Amino acid sequence: MSTPPTSQVPGFLYGTAWKEDRTPALAELALRAGFRGIDTANQRRHYFEAGVGQALAVVYREGLVTRSDLFLQTKFTSLGGQDHRLPYDPAASLRDQVEQSMASSLEHLGTEYVDSYVLHGPASGYGWTNEDAEVWEAMVTERNAGRTRLLGVSNVSLRHLEQMSRSHTDAPVFVQNRCFARLGWDRDVRAFCKERGIIYQGFSLLTANIEVLRHPLINGLARAANTGPAQIVFAFARLVGMLPLTGTSDPEHMKQDLDSLGLELSPATVEAIESLAG
Ligand SMILES: NC(=O)c1ccc[n+]([C@@H]2O[C@H](COP(=O)([O-])OP(=O)(O)OC[C@H]3O[C@@H](n4cnc5c(N)ncnc54)[C@H](OP(=O)(O)O)[C@@H]3O)[C@@H](O)[C@H]2O)c1
Repeated sequence: MSTPPTSQVPGFLYGTAWKEDRTPALAELALRAGFRGIDTANQRRHYFEAGVGQALAVVYREGLVTRSDLFLQTKFTSLGGQDHRLPYDPAASLRDQVEQSMASSLEHLGTEYVDSYVLHGPASGYGWTNEDAEVWEAMVTERNAGRTRLLGVSNVSLRHLEQMSRSHTDAPVFVQNRCFARLGWDRDVRAFCKERGIIYQGFSLLTANIEVLRHPLINGLARAANTGPAQIVFAFARLVGMLPLTGTSDPEHMKQDLDSLGLELSPATVEAIESLAG
């Protein structure tokens, strides 16, 4: 299967974590608001993936969108990140766990393929382990079988990425990380991604950076652009090369977050925000 161009990736992803019973209604609202990228995971502890599927069924039925209009991303979550509601047999090999988790995701989402399949996190915070390598190769098999178009990794350090790149011929297309302004907005990992053409997906851009949202520079820019500090942060993220995620539950914030796609900042402003806190 040929790799689709990453130009098909939308400019914003709507995140569906922590929404529990509200997942179907909020995912539907996000699609109606104009989001075309959805992030979920087959990890019932934090996500209700089948609820995303319910929202998709509603919007397909109404003819609002078709499957090919959407970018659907889900994740494989290892045992350590799960609770008792597992999408696979814990006694199965890692290879089989990936296959079972993927089959369950496709059923939840009512689709034959996802656009992106992400390893939720490496087994160890210190480095890329043999377990990670086995899971990654199983994910490559899923991609080669056409069940996902693209692959990604999440919650990774530069060390993980360097070790991963030495161990595998197939590199991730996406890195999804929590993005702290005090770490230069994950500067090292972003630089690695930029060098290799990997798309960096940033989450917790607002919640991890409360001090930035209160900063006079950001608030001055927001006032000048007649917008809010959240939009300035999202516009900055886009202009510095990130693909941002938002998990807002508020319809007005959904609209504002999407509107940030039209907001421009000068290169000097982007640079000033980049070095604001670290
Ligand atoms: N890979 C991983 O391990 C991992 C971990 C965490 C998250 N994620 C993904 O990333 C997604 C997003 O998570 P997140 O941590 O970035 O966000 P989040 O936890 O969903 O929180 C976003 C926060 O920002 C607020 N907000 C959004 N737009 C705003 C606006 N325009 N003005 C003011 N406040 C605004 C929201 O409040 P309102 O609801 O009131 O708007 C909410 O409090 C998740 O749903 C999940 O898909 C992945």
